[in-house]
Amino acid sequence: MINVKNEKEIELIRESCRIVKETLDFVGKNIRAGMTTKQVDELVYRYIISCGAYPSCLGYEGYPASACVSVNEVVVHGIPSDRVIMDGDIVSVDITAQKNGFHGDACRTFLIGNVSEEKRKLVKVTEECFFKAIEGLQEGTPLYDIGYAVQTHAEANGYGVVRALVGHGIGREMHEDPSVPNYGKKGTGMRLKAGMTICIEPMINMGTYKVNIDRNDGWTVTTADGKPAAHYENTVLIKPDGVEILTL
Ligand code: MF3
Ligand code: CO
Ligand code: CO
Repeated sequence: MINVKNEKEIELIRESCRIVKETLDFVGKNIRAGMTTKQVDELVYRYIISCGAYPSCLGYEGYPASACVSVNEVVVHGIPSDRVIMDGDIVSVDITAQKNGFHGDACRTFLIGNVSEEKRKLVKVTEECFFKAIEGLQEGTPLYDIGYAVQTHAEANGYGVVRALVGHGIGREMHEDPSVPNYGKKGTGMRLKAGMTICIEPMINMGTYKVNIDRNDGWTVTTADGKPAAHYENTVLIKPDGVEILTL
């Protein structure tokens, strides 16, 4: 069931999204080589709690941490651990916060120190995929135009578009309808309505689009070929004449 939010609900989602954005800015200022991914998670936990919000991931379907911290070949859902972040790594930090019953969700991929040109390009193109997706996006746009835009830009650069995970609606639940794939056929899918809040989140692999899910922890998603991946996400409000990016 797709739900369209009213002004009051949108105001609450805006507030949660503002907290998510601030948390990511705080992480960006503090993340560095030598830290463990668990230390990044601690920064996230403390910042979100200090805002009077709750890190939605913590306890979600048994997920054991506040953030997903995914290094290099880890695409998404990296569980914070004793893994040490190294110079030259790319690290995606995906955060969801809930306040007053509404969630906001966003992810950035951070460059740690001296990052190779090819990894920098991957991160840049992944961000561009998001911005291509919102070009011209407004009420009435067919849903799969989003995936079409992401896939076209990623594949033009020789990258693989992850199929196994998708974007989503957001509101009272972290994951609501509709699913928002990063691939698709232009002109197809439901027409977006003003007042929908959705998360657009390209997950782009340098090599194959294929991924594996860790058998032991049930969460960690890695590229099948071991090459790096990047992830970029914002929560977006659909408006009659465009979009508002709530987590920027
Ligand atoms: N924030 C993620 C998303 O973009 C969800 C994380 S799953 C969790 O949909 F288990 F970590 F919560
Ligand atoms: Co997210
Ligand atoms: Co999301």
